Parts: sequence; C-alpha cells; structure tokens
Amino acid sequence: MELEAGSCWLPAAGLGLLAAGFFLLPAGLELALGLLLLTLCLQRLLAAPLLILRAPHQVGYIPEPGISKRRAANEVRRRRKKGELPPVYPNGWYRVLDSQQLQPGQVKNITIFVPEFAKIKTWPTCELNCAVFVWFHCDDIDPSWSIPEQEEIQSGEWVYRGRTEHFVNCHIQEIPENAADIAHLSHLHAPSMLSGSDLRSTRASHWGFAQHDWKVEWNTESEPNKHCSRMLVNHAFYIFGRRFPLLDVHVVCRQVGPGIVYMLFNHSFLGRGIILHCVAPVEPLLQRVTHSIYYQANIPAIIPKFVLKAECIQFERDVMIWNNKKYISKPLLVKEDSAIARHRRWYTQFYSQNSPRFTAQLDSLDW
Ligand SMILES: [Fe+2]
Repeated sequence: MELEAGSCWLPAAGLGLLAAGFFLLPAGLELALGLLLLTLCLQRLLAAPLLILRAPHQVGYIPEPGISKRRAANEVRRRRKKGELPPVYPNGWYRVLDSQQLQPGQVKNITIFVPEFAKIKTWPTCELNCAVFVWFHCDDIDPSWSIPEQEEIQSGEWVYRGRTEHFVNCHIQEIPENAADIAHLSHLHAPSMLSGSDLRSTRASHWGFAQHDWKVEWNTESEPNKHCSRMLVNHAFYIFGRRFPLLDVHVVCRQVGPGIVYMLFNHSFLGRGIILHCVAPVEPLLQRVTHSIYYQANIPAIIPKFVLKAECIQFERDVMIWNNKKYISKPLLVKEDSAIARHRRWYTQFYSQNSPRFTAQLDSLDW
C-alpha cells in the first residue's frame, strides 16, 4: 500500500462557487475560477509530505504464479536458514514514532522487542529531532550515551517533508552492515532509480543508459563517540556514459548506536537536509525501518520528496536481499570487504552477556 498524504481537496465554498458558475457566471470567469482551484489543489498536493507505508509482505518477495505475496512471504520465513545469529536485541536507543504521530495526552500501542519484555517496566525515553525514542538495555542499565540534537530540525529551519516505513525480515545487524559492504553498491545500486526496486529487472531494463556511481568510505569514531560510525558517500550520475556534475551529491551518514542514522545531504543548488534512518526490532528477525526527511524550508517540497522516493527505491533493492539471505557468522571476506569485518567488530559493543538470543519460540506467527 502506498499512501501519499495530503490528498487533494476542494474547499466547500469553492465547490459552491464552481457549481454556481455553471448557472450564473460567464464562461470566462468560470474557467478562471476552475483554473485557480486546480492550481491551489496542485500546489497543496505538491507541498504535502510524502508518506509511503509498506506492509511486511509487500516488498522483497517473489511469489510463484498463483500464490499471493503474503503466502510467499510466510513460506520464505518458514524455510529460512537462520545461520549463527548474534543476539537479537542490541543495547541502545530506538525510535518508536515521530512526535507528530502522538498528540498530547494520547496513548498509543507500539510493538517493539516482541515477546521478550511482556512485563511491566519503565523505559527511559526522550523526545528530540521531532521523534520519540526508547532506551533498551538487557540488564536495565541506564543510557550510556545520548542522541545528538539536529539543530536545524529543533529550530524549524529544516521542515518535515515525508516518511517511509518498511518491515524487513532479517537480523538487525544486517541493515547497518550495508554501509560497510562497499562491493554491493555497484551491483545493487548502480542501475538508475528509474529501473525500480525489483532486482530481477533492474539491470535488464531499458533504463540502462542511466547509471549511478557511488564512492564510499566507512570508519568508526573514537571516544567519547565510539558508539558512532560514519559512511561518507559521493554520488555521481551518468547518462550514456557522460557525467552530469550538477547531480553530484555528497552525503555523510552518521550511525549513532545500533538503531539511528543521520543522513546529511549537501548539494550545490538543491540545498541541505537530512534523512533520519531508524531501525527498531519488532521481533528477533523483523525490523521496522523508517526514513523521515527534513529539508531547508525555502527549497520546494518536490525536491526532498524526490530525494526520499529515490532513497526508498534504493532501500527496497536491499530489502529483497535481506528478506531472503542467510546470516553467515564467519564469511569468507576478500581484501575489498575489510570494512565488513571492522563493522562487525564495532557492532559487538551493543551486545552484552545477557543480550537475548534467537530461539524458535521468539519467532512470530504468520503474517
Ligand atoms: Fe545497499
């Protein structure tokens, strides 16, 4: 299901005028009013935030003919070889929802860390960057680090332009590890975003004349920010082998703990903004992943909405892999994959002796 929020509407008064026009107004005035309302409607539609919500079975599964996506997804999950998994719930801060999704005094049920914590407990929480976060530690230890404020979001200089939400059927560590898997970029993410997210057709499509190029570097940060790492991305776009420097984009992706990434965009004329990429385990092998975009208020909304849509397409290519792969605890890595080994070492800091491990009982029922 794809919802594009802020659907087009016509004010009741406007409808009245338009209706009256059929009977009373001269044809020219009637046309002008119609055009005015159409323009207002279009303006509102373009400015409304983009909202893309995907159901758990919707992305990254390939059903056999005659089988529904839901059934195909459940069969893949049942047959899945789990591998030797790390603990399933790392210690850290996790986003539960955006502030705007919770009105003052409102109560909402949130599913997270099922079913390990079906008991009454107090969760350390905080609200910043227009979102609400909870702290999870398997030994109930208080937060050892805090979530950095993004000043431009807090001050309102950057405004909300949309959100995507996906459910990914994999271990949580697989998702950030993507940043250190440099080699996969040219396979999965080089085909133009126009060729979509179905990996069976991205390379075969007639959009082959357009290609993305990614140059990436991944490194950890040192004390007192050893819970952070950075991926520096330089993106270039080629059409018929010719580079278009105006489409070069520089992105700094700062991972803060196991579940939050700040993706900072800086473009020469498309302006600055951020995608907050957040991962939270719903179940041991089911992750809720959200991307919320905030962008310079003076840049037309269509630009950040396009950026978010492009990110969504590229992300869904990864989902197709994550949903179907097996976690290999000791993979054969070549020299070019050295960042994966470094990433795994870095990520171990989020596990401790009592971190819950996967058991069949913790797995869920069918979707
Ligand atoms: Fe990827």
